[in-house]
Amino acid sequence: MTTRTPVRTARLALTALAFAAALCGTAGAQGTGKLKVGLMLPYSGTYTALGVAIENGFKLYVDEQGGKLAGREIEYFKVDDESDPAKATDNVNKLIKRDNVDVIVGTVHSGVAMAMAKAAKESGTVLIVPNAGADAVTGPMCAPNIFRSSFSNWQPAYAMGEVAAKQQGKKKVMTITWKYAAGEESVNGFKEGFEKNGGKVDKQLTLPFPNVEFQALLTEIAAAKPDAVYAFFAGGGAVKFVKDYQAAGLNKTIPLYGPGFLTDGTLDAQGESAQGMLTTLHYADGLNTPRDNAFRTAYAKSFKLQPDVYAVQGYDAAQMLGVGLNATKGDISKKADFAAAVEKAKIDSPRGAFTVSKSHNPVQDIYLRKVDGKENKLVSTAIKGLADPARGCRM
Ligand code: BEZ
Repeated sequence: MTTRTPVRTARLALTALAFAAALCGTAGAQGTGKLKVGLMLPYSGTYTALGVAIENGFKLYVDEQGGKLAGREIEYFKVDDESDPAKATDNVNKLIKRDNVDVIVGTVHSGVAMAMAKAAKESGTVLIVPNAGADAVTGPMCAPNIFRSSFSNWQPAYAMGEVAAKQQGKKKVMTITWKYAAGEESVNGFKEGFEKNGGKVDKQLTLPFPNVEFQALLTEIAAAKPDAVYAFFAGGGAVKFVKDYQAAGLNKTIPLYGPGFLTDGTLDAQGESAQGMLTTLHYADGLNTPRDNAFRTAYAKSFKLQPDVYAVQGYDAAQMLGVGLNATKGDISKKADFAAAVEKAKIDSPRGAFTVSKSHNPVQDIYLRKVDGKENKLVSTAIKGLADPARGCRM
């Protein structure tokens, strides 16, 4: 027989409380209660507007479902990742370990996304990447709990390489980008598509992320006189680059190409300097489908601005989460069923319906667009149903 001291009684009470709390947690994980969504996005720095558009798009889809996915109310937890890879592991662990989120949605910057993918793989938390194109995320780092609603850096870049060589007849191209995974992979994808079709990339210029001191590099381009320049920049950096390119007079003789990030969400600020530019991307203005028109009207009504590709990717991240949760009756801990549902779904995206590959990256049409006023107007479909090669993914 044991006698109960006050200390022992208090301990028993605490154990009972902890058990009850654990039960509540389990009940949530098994498909009831609020679903905790961790948004890890840039809310400061050169990619701020991209982070905000992703969050807007995500919330728009959730709101359209009455604020719930698979019957579960959504509770948001937010972290500003500052597009800083050095802080990425600490930041993602705030969501995983401190806030104990059920799912992470993020981010924009490829270097930050790779740290997030590592943490997601280790903890088993579901991660949906709503922008960062790091090839590795759906390549060597691919995992059953990691998904992407956007693109791989290879996809739009490879398409632009084909367009530059086959359609535009360019032979010699210089490239310029920030020196980090997204820029380097984008240039590699362009080079692959361009050189396969008879072109030659003869010089690759870089500067550190997120520097915008382009002058010396623009002087180099002017001296080399390539047939065209391929550039990867986005957000605030893209605005500055396109304006500086025009101010240097280069756009008169050397066409500037890029993946659509160079002119998406940036045209208000780029104005005259971007007119006529050709880019490739998985979204365009003027798709004029009932699905896209409805999305654009709803987005404009909610946020008093036009959506861009980042808003679409956020919206589709929420759609993918909804697909997985519907299949598991809201129980995100059923990871295999969640993944199987996303893998066999057709995501009804404003960009056009897409499927998700075995490595969990969208298989999607890549459009050729031309800047006309404030729009990236659809010219044609550059490549239909383009899948990332997913090099190194073993799943
Ligand atoms: C990236 O880092 O992967 C990225 C950032 C902005 C636009 C596109 C890609």
